[in-house]
Amino acid sequence: MNMKNKNSWQISSRLVKSEDLNHHGTLFAGRMTEWFVESSFAAASMLFGHPENIVCFKIHYMNFKTPIQKGDIVHIAAKVLRVSRSSFTVYAKVTTLNHPDQLAIDGVTLFVCVDKNGKKMEHGLVLDPPTDENEIKILQDLLTKKP
Ligand SMILES: CC(C)(COP(=O)(O)OP(=O)(O)OC[C@H]1O[C@@H](n2cnc3c(N)ncnc32)[C@H](O)[C@@H]1OP(=O)(O)O)[C@@H](O)C(=O)NCCC(=O)NCCS
Repeated sequence: MNMKNKNSWQISSRLVKSEDLNHHGTLFAGRMTEWFVESSFAAASMLFGHPENIVCFKIHYMNFKTPIQKGDIVHIAAKVLRVSRSSFTVYAKVTTLNHPDQLAIDGVTLFVCVDKNGKKMEHGLVLDPPTDENEIKILQDLLTKKP
């Protein structure tokens, strides 16, 4: 495969329930990380089209900026910002229904394309570099290890 695929934000939503809370009574980081990686994985899979060939290799970072309360709905927006030979760099950001203008969490995860034996393989995708200023900065910060 050697083509320019369409790339867009993938949005998923979750209700924060009692079983998702930590000892402070707010959303548990472990649960949020599960949702975050799953949504980021979905973004890479939607671009590539073969989820069975994608594995998570590295969570570069996650910033938990504000606590999230029980009963709130979280919206996770994830997008592939960069592809290299075998990898996908996915940025995701989290907002809530109650505070839609406030960035609650964001982070970057790296996924790698593998064959049926779990060995790294080239995905053959080409992606235009981002033109959005924020997306450019996220990638620049990643390269200079600022996040
Ligand atoms: C994912 C896996 C196949 C990678 O194998 P590998 O041969 O060791 O991979 P490499 O070290 O060559 O790196 C793979 C890619 O990540 C990139 N990479 C590695 N470390 C990186 C870092 N710190 N920052 C940015 N990119 C990095 C490499 O550049 C390469 O990308 P490219 O081919 O697009 O250039 C292997 O580590 C594995 O099987 N891990 C377990 C995965 C898993 O079980 N995940 C949980 C279930 S989904």
